[in-house]
Amino acid sequence: RRDLIGIEGLSAAEILGLLDLAEEFVDLNRQIEKKRTTLRGRTQINLFFEASTRTQASFEIAGKRLGADVMNMSVGTSSVKKGETLIDTAMTLNAMHPDILVVRHHASGAVALLARKVDCCVVNAGDGAHEHPTQALLDALTIRRNKGRIQGLTVAICGDVLHSRVARSNMLLLSTLGARVRVVAPSSLLPAGIEQYGVEVHRSMESGLADADIVMMLRLQRERMAGSFIPSVKEYFHYFGLDEAKLHHARPDALVMHPGPMNRGVEIDSAVADGPRSLIREQVEMGVAVRMAVLDALARKLPNA
Ligand code: CP
Repeated sequence: RRDLIGIEGLSAAEILGLLDLAEEFVDLNRQIEKKRTTLRGRTQINLFFEASTRTQASFEIAGKRLGADVMNMSVGTSSVKKGETLIDTAMTLNAMHPDILVVRHHASGAVALLARKVDCCVVNAGDGAHEHPTQALLDALTIRRNKGRIQGLTVAICGDVLHSRVARSNMLLLSTLGARVRVVAPSSLLPAGIEQYGVEVHRSMESGLADADIVMMLRLQRERMAGSFIPSVKEYFHYFGLDEAKLHHARPDALVMHPGPMNRGVEIDSAVADGPRSLIREQVEMGVAVRMAVLDALARKLPNA
C-alpha cells in the first residue's frame, strides 16, 4: 500500500505494526538528539486546505526528524485563492517531484481522489467528515500506553459524531482491535446508519459513560452546521458537556481524551480537561511519534528505498 487514506481496510496486524513502530519514536523524541536519516533526500509537502495546529505542526516535525525536506504549502496565499482547483494544485506540486504529500481538505473523499492523480505517496491528514487516520492511531497509542491494551476496553466517543472524522476513524480502529465502542450523542448529531460500525448508540451521558474505561470527547463543529440545527451552547454543555459529575458515571480509573482543538465550557469543562485523568497533552506527544511511524513505513515503499 503506497498511501494512507484511512483506517478502513487496515488489518489489526498493520495497525499494531504502526503502533509498535511509533513506540520507538516516543523514546527517540524524549532524547536530546532526535534525528534519523530515513527520509534524507526526500521531499514532503504539507498541503492543508483547512486550519490545523496539531496535525500540521506534528507532520512537519515528524518529517524533519526523519531527515526530509519539508515544505508547508500556504494555501491561503496560494493560487487556490485565484480559483485553482484541488487537482490542478496537486498536479502542479506533483510536477515538482515530491515524495510524500500530506493533505487535509474539507471535502470527504478529496484526499483519495488526489491520491489517484499524483505519483507520490499521499497521507490523509483529515478529509471532511470521512477519516483522520493518524488521529485514530495516536489515540490508540495513547490508550495502549495508559491501559496496557485496547482489546476488551469500553470506549465512549461522545459529542458531535455526525461531523467527526476523528469519530469515524476511531470507531473503525478500536473495533478492529477488539474494543467495545459506544457513541454518545443527541440524535441530531448522529449520522444515519451509525449501527453499521458495530457500535453501541447512547443518547445520554449517564448510560453511555457507565463503566467506560475511556471517555473520548469530540469538538462541537459549529462551522460545519451552516443551514442546519445548531444547539445552544448552554443546553449542549448541560446535557453532553463532560464535567466531574458526568465523569463519575465512568469507571473510577477512566481516562479522558479529546483530539483538540477543545471548546472549553462547550463539550468539556476545564477542570476535567486539565485534571489528573486527562490524556490530552499526551495525545499531542503521541501525534509526533505516530506520524513519524507512518512516514517511516511509507519511506520503505518509495522508489529506490
Ligand atoms: N486533532 C486535530 O486534528 O487537530 P488540528 O485540527 O489542530 O490539526
